[in-house]
Amino acid sequence: MKVLVIGKGGREHALCWRLHQSQSVWGLFCANGSPGINQLAEPAPISPLDFPALVGFAGDKKVDLVVVGPDDPVGAGIVDEFNAAGIKIFGPTRAAAQLETSKSFAKSVMRAAGVLTAPYEVFDDAAAARRYASSHDLPLVVKADGLALGKGVTVCTDRESALGAITDAMEGGKFGPAGRRVLIEEFLPGEELSFFALCDGEYAIPFGTCQDHKPIFDGDRGPNTGGMGAYSPVPQFPPQLEERIMREIIQPTLREMNARGMPFRGVLFAGLMVKEQAIRVIEFNARFGDPECQALMMRFEGDLGALLLAAAEGNLKQVSVSLSPKSAACVVLSSAGYPGTYRKGLPITGIEKIEGNAPSDAKVRWAMKKVRVKVFHAGTALKDGQLVTDGGRVLAVTAMAPSLELAVSSAYEAAQMIEFEGKYMRRDIAHRALSRSDAGRR
Ligand code: AMP
Ligand code: GLY
Repeated sequence: MKVLVIGKGGREHALCWRLHQSQSVWGLFCANGSPGINQLAEPAPISPLDFPALVGFAGDKKVDLVVVGPDDPVGAGIVDEFNAAGIKIFGPTRAAAQLETSKSFAKSVMRAAGVLTAPYEVFDDAAAARRYASSHDLPLVVKADGLALGKGVTVCTDRESALGAITDAMEGGKFGPAGRRVLIEEFLPGEELSFFALCDGEYAIPFGTCQDHKPIFDGDRGPNTGGMGAYSPVPQFPPQLEERIMREIIQPTLREMNARGMPFRGVLFAGLMVKEQAIRVIEFNARFGDPECQALMMRFEGDLGALLLAAAEGNLKQVSVSLSPKSAACVVLSSAGYPGTYRKGLPITGIEKIEGNAPSDAKVRWAMKKVRVKVFHAGTALKDGQLVTDGGRVLAVTAMAPSLELAVSSAYEAAQMIEFEGKYMRRDIAHRALSRSDAGRR
């Protein structure tokens, strides 16, 4: 079949890489790919938000399946447009994507489905929100209802910051229309876990656990980013947890979405807080995470094209998913200044030392230890034939190995081989797993 991928980040590069290897896929296009993606897929120079042009392109090229990566086209209804044109697409409709695009909608689904989450209240009136925040126990979490580029959440340990967060969002316009309505919820202690499930509207298949690293600095300090690194699986959680998450969270959510006439197809990405026996949902996303997808795709075994087509057609019951039991770790290389302002157009060198054919000591060592390394492009461009930086997150260096320790050390070894001016990375990816004496070796 022919597949069109929408999006150009590291997540989409990882999806294209696995789709390119899929036996069922013999034609691959990407709108609007990076130089890394364009080595695998034919470029479709169309914006991910230009739906009429995308539908026209897919029709002309007789595309059999569209796979959409980022949240903004999903939230804007790309799936509805392709459905209306009779072209198969992997992803949720605009109505179903409200699990991500409206936190109050997601909460109401969870409440109705009996899925555990933090107790909360929704406010459309700033004065009422301030009254609530003045009288409730701290810490409190103030959240913009809509999509706010991952920046709409403030964890408040004192009243002043809670009142400030409410005023900024509801009256200061800090997040635009996304912040006119806020949720205030109880702070949940525990350890965070990202869980992915592939859904076909009725049926869901687990697709692995991950942990992301959102803040820019080591030790989880500083402002939040899109994600500075990830690893999968997460060894501090027993494999039995997966079965509970499917039963207590994913399946009831799908049933409730069906009852509302909004069947959920695509990736349901649950951000969870786990504390002893309690598993609670912090948020849902309606797509793969970035960089979580890079770690998951490293572990994926099988025909990704056939799997995503089965999900899009409502046939997931007929197929199975296999993820390698090995560990994958992904380290993001970002531009100096990110998540604030940063320069673009700086030359990148060294990727060929990892991915080229020339022999090297590092490659021999990786081969001997059964390590696989892959560099995904997150924000790159070609300028006069030279690969240059073109985004805040530039590259996602990902390794898979028999142990998490080896995956992490190999990803860092490869990351050191790449150079560009202002290159930054967190040095402590997977610190939570590796700080537990036996977990990293499992
Ligand atoms: P969200 O965008 O909803 O995933 O929130 C961003 C981050 O804020 C999460 O990854 C958590 O670290 C934190 N967070 C959000 N809600 C809560 C909560 N109720 N309790 C504790 N931490 C939270
Ligand atoms: N890395 C987090 C996300 O994609 O939402």
